[in-house]
Amino acid sequence: MSTAAARACANIALVKYWGKRDPDLNLPAAGSLSLTLAALTTSARVTFDDALDRDELVLGGAPADEPARARLSRWLDIVRDRAAERRFARVDSRNDFPTASGLASSASAFAALALAATRAAGLVLEPGELSVIARRGSGSAARSIFGGFAEMDPGTRADGADARAWVLDHATDWPLCMVIAVVGGGVAKSIGSRDAMDHCAATSPLYRGWIESVPHDLAAARRAIEGRDLAALGVVTEASALAMHAAAIASRPAVLYWQPPTLACLTAVRRLRDAGTEAYATMDAGPHVKVLAHAADADRIAAELAAVAGVSDVLVSGIGGGAELLA
Ligand code: DP6
Repeated sequence: MSTAAARACANIALVKYWGKRDPDLNLPAAGSLSLTLAALTTSARVTFDDALDRDELVLGGAPADEPARARLSRWLDIVRDRAAERRFARVDSRNDFPTASGLASSASAFAALALAATRAAGLVLEPGELSVIARRGSGSAARSIFGGFAEMDPGTRADGADARAWVLDHATDWPLCMVIAVVGGGVAKSIGSRDAMDHCAATSPLYRGWIESVPHDLAAARRAIEGRDLAALGVVTEASALAMHAAAIASRPAVLYWQPPTLACLTAVRRLRDAGTEAYATMDAGPHVKVLAHAADADRIAAELAAVAGVSDVLVSGIGGGAELLA
């Protein structure tokens, strides 16, 4: 038996990943840029064991459903191939936030799993290689290997070896926060990001325009981060999220993640801004609204969002670090 455990933080994309250039190798069609969040973590233990006759997955203390177990098993094959490991694995993964709610649980999960599974299989890989392995599980997971601001490079190689994330900026000197308004009680989303982005690429007349907008947004976000300019970063963060959702909404049939409280939160964020608080919203494949702001404004923003009808919970997070091994 050989075992290892690791923890990784979720990340929220400020410039979104939404579309693939190769679904089999899970290669993104464009770059993306994210902020890693300290308060949303997944811890995972992977144990390769001769006694197992198939991979096992326990999620949050309960056996996972078959699609999740099979997806993990296919991903473990990548680690097994790389390490010449023949044994099946027992995997125990737990989040400290609602799973499948659009709070990016696959990002922290596959980042933690990439570190734990490779170590359990006897491999010691540098973070860039871990990012490539995490990406095969979930594109956004490639970014959760790193702390601070992480940027995903879509790469150009057919084998995807250069499609990996890296640390753009640890930002330890920049006290930012993300305030998350949980909408709809953390219920499972209707269509997962993977199927939704494929459907969007296949049917949305806005998809091409969305992909073409990404390099420009990435450049603007990099400049804003370098200049520690929250207002500039916030403008591109909102623009990227709205463009991604516009492309998704224009899919046929539509992919619409927003619920009425989502729009009410967006209005609250505008109201805060009009009153002088720098606050900028982003949304992923779910109804929740995540607000980028100065850490000093977290309480005021959290109170404003908590007062929105339909918001069931508000979480506040600072900037998180990279994936790490656990004892
Ligand atoms: C809206 O990483 O979940 O959160 O690579 O198919 O697993 P797969 O997709 P996933 O997509 C994340 C989409 C997003 C935006 C983002 O995190 O960049």
